[in-house]
Amino acid sequence: MRKHIVNHRDQELLLSVLENEEWSDGSYCRLFEKQIAHYIGTKYAIIMPNCTYSFKLVLRCLGIKDGDEVIVPAITWPSMVVAIMECNAIPVIVDVDACFQMILDNLSKKISNKTKVILATHLYGFYENIEEIKKIIGNEKIYIVEDCAHVVGYKLNGRMLGSLGDVAVTSFNSKKIFTCGEGGCIFTNNDEIYHSLCEMRAVEERESKYGFLPSNYLVSEFQAAILISQLEKYNELLKIEYERAMYISQVLNKSNRISVYENSDKVEMQTFYNYVFAVDNEAREVVDGVNSKCGNVLSLIYPPLIQSAVFSRIEEKYKNLLKNWDKKEISSANNLYQHCCRFHHSLLLMRNDDLDRILETIIDIMGE
Ligand SMILES: Cc1ncc(COP(=O)(O)O)c(C=O)c1O
Repeated sequence: MRKHIVNHRDQELLLSVLENEEWSDGSYCRLFEKQIAHYIGTKYAIIMPNCTYSFKLVLRCLGIKDGDEVIVPAITWPSMVVAIMECNAIPVIVDVDACFQMILDNLSKKISNKTKVILATHLYGFYENIEEIKKIIGNEKIYIVEDCAHVVGYKLNGRMLGSLGDVAVTSFNSKKIFTCGEGGCIFTNNDEIYHSLCEMRAVEERESKYGFLPSNYLVSEFQAAILISQLEKYNELLKIEYERAMYISQVLNKSNRISVYENSDKVEMQTFYNYVFAVDNEAREVVDGVNSKCGNVLSLIYPPLIQSAVFSRIEEKYKNLLKNWDKKEISSANNLYQHCCRFHHSLLLMRNDDLDRILETIIDIMGE
């Protein structure tokens, strides 16, 4: 199974870094930032060591402080919540519907005068409805930060996810479709946010204009070289994965105990960090049954935050900050976790006969 598509171009660019004097934060980093900003459709992109740090830096830049509230969907990656708590802010959970979108009624009820940021996580092949979230916010000064770790290249209504909120963050870690092993990026159209982030990401011999304490969030030229090469072939990769995903949907549709997700007309390019489908019984039974016959090909989706292993440690440490976590309010997220299975995107790149064998096993287990 291929996880990454590598060709002579990756080697060529990597070798050129080896031959250069500059191994960190140099011309490849600047070139990649320019290229990826153009691809996503934002004025700025800032390459980062990972998505978690990107988010933490964004929160600091937006002035998030003790007691501020940051809204998060009930299913998201736990390190993003750790970033909120490291700023001593309070994460406020909103339940998600069957398409992993925050339930808008619940969201509007959770907004308070302490809400400073809404983290809109576009998960798997799904997207948060940023336009509707903006309507709910109205004129309040609340920032929308898109988490695009799963959706680089996802195009909706003529625009890429990542260009719709105030700021977006993404991950290039090795499990992601677009990757350089470890890495991340921040996107924004906002001049002040961009210049503040630039000031914070490295300690330099110049006066602080925005008053932020700088640190070290620099990235090596090796990572940028791989990213430049991966970007050149990325649309081609997305097309292959999209066609494979449509084929999987067609086969799984044979079973009326399986629900596959239909694409809406507004989606021009859907990405599949993971391909998700729902079953009418316990997802865990299907995952175990298929994996016992085919190897580790299926998994459960991310558990709702409050079921994640990290959460109990966070809960222990920050007891006094967790007053807004209401465990009863996330029944829809719990239901999703119970019934959804996922293929990692690398399965979309496997040989046809191997894929067919896995799909047949699923249909055998579920029945037509
Ligand atoms: C949705 C989502 N956001 C953020 C992250 C964190 O990314 P990183 O490992 O680059 O910090 C992940 C990691 O898998 C993720 O799935």
